Amino acid sequence: ARLLLLHGPNLNLLGTREPHIYGATTLAQIDAAAKTQCEAAGHELDTLQSNSEAELIDRIQAAAGEGVAFIVINPAAFTHTSVALRDALAAVAIPFIELHLSNPHAREEFRRHSYFSDLARGVVCGFGAHSYTLALEAAIHQLSVAPTNK
Ligand code: DQA
Repeated sequence: ARLLLLHGPNLNLLGTREPHIYGATTLAQIDAAAKTQCEAAGHELDTLQSNSEAELIDRIQAAAGEGVAFIVINPAAFTHTSVALRDALAAVAIPFIELHLSNPHAREEFRRHSYFSDLARGVVCGFGAHSYTLALEAAIHQLSVAPTNK
């Protein structure tokens, strides 16, 4: 199946951005490992990082027409702000997993609310770059047990 991995704003800076919170792994390393993991399971993975809410929404809308079966998304700061990105995921009805490198529940109060968690199949957070591995493993498993939201 086709999977889509989306990264929200500022995640292009991974590796140098607040490494005590987000770790030293770069986005390129995360994407490369994610591709290898999906291909080893017989799936295809497309990835996109954007600092633009509009570009992420357009990518989600396009995914429906491309037959993307599952989305894994780190919405980054849009987690806490974006009704529009939430609505895009609801509109396409593609099952998705929300993930975070850090544990937003152990940080500032404003990070405790997510516009995505109640729509997500599940949420992974707090394990640094390994959160991506865990979320993709869960996505691959979900594709075998509950491939659609219908
Ligand atoms: C994040 C957590 C968010 O609160 C923050 O705005 C980010 C990254 C994470 O992966 O830990 O940019 O999504």
